[in-house]
Amino acid sequence: MPSISDCKCVLVIGSTSGIGRALALSILDLPSKPTVIVCGRRKERLEELVATHHATGRLKSVTLDVLSERNALKSSIEEIVDTYPDLDAVLFSSGILRSFDFTRPETIDLDSLECELGTNYTSIVRMITFFLPHLIKLGEQGHPTFLYPVSSGLSIFPAPGIPDYCATKAALHSLSISLAVQLKRKNVHVVEIIPPLVESELHGFQSTTQGLARFWLTLEEYTKETMEGLVRGDSYVPAGTAVERYKKFEEGKLEAAARLYGQS
Ligand SMILES: NC(=O)c1ccc[n+]([C@@H]2O[C@H](COP(=O)([O-])OP(=O)(O)OC[C@H]3O[C@@H](n4cnc5c(N)ncnc54)[C@H](OP(=O)(O)O)[C@@H]3O)[C@@H](O)[C@H]2O)c1
Repeated sequence: MPSISDCKCVLVIGSTSGIGRALALSILDLPSKPTVIVCGRRKERLEELVATHHATGRLKSVTLDVLSERNALKSSIEEIVDTYPDLDAVLFSSGILRSFDFTRPETIDLDSLECELGTNYTSIVRMITFFLPHLIKLGEQGHPTFLYPVSSGLSIFPAPGIPDYCATKAALHSLSISLAVQLKRKNVHVVEIIPPLVESELHGFQSTTQGLARFWLTLEEYTKETMEGLVRGDSYVPAGTAVERYKKFEEGKLEAAARLYGQS
């Protein structure tokens, strides 16, 4: 199975903090010595990462807001592909999390809800669409390429306090299955990363962080387990409690979808 270890150049969108940052740095440490491009809105964090890892000569950065207007986003992605023609993997870790209480509909801020949908789902479908001509071209030349959407264990079983977040992740999960099946014959491998609750800035809302800290995987534990799956070349990479959740509700779905689509 081709895996992250075969990649020459990996772009990690949403790597100014948390899971994306930790995975980007672990990928940078792979013995295969890929180029890693860190990406997000917070320029100072990107600059700090590049400065800290300057000695490798392989950590690059791109400032990007995934909520940019569609044509602007397309131009940014074309520019990335032009600058890094070896780009053979894109990991989508950008995401935000909001809570909504539908028992008090007057409190639902639809701008905030639509921003969550745009960040966690719509922007990712757009970016995948814009990256694919390049990735398919490399794939057809015999070089396997990869898309790594980061969904969540909550894509499989929702947490009712964060209903829109779970719905965006369920959408991304479903999309990942369909694209994995469609794109396999183009030598583009779609590998969904499915984190459980993990220590990160994502949870810095409404002072819930301290409570959650009793249950979450540390970033270090999470990154180790996920990197093992990525390096093995697993078809999907759940970790921690998401493994059990995946086994109970999802096992066999990807393979069944492939059979329905006429692939063995
Ligand atoms: N931590 C968990 O418990 C957990 C569990 C399951 C799934 N996940 C998923 O894992 C992914 C990473 O989350 P995390 O926990 O690492 O959270 P995090 O530390 O808050 O990281 C989120 C990243 O997304 C980027 N981002 C947000 N909006 C963006 C935008 N408009 N344009 C570009 N980048 C944007 C942020 O960069 P800038 O702010 O610099 O732009 C940041 O790098 C998310 O998709 C999340 O849903 C997390």
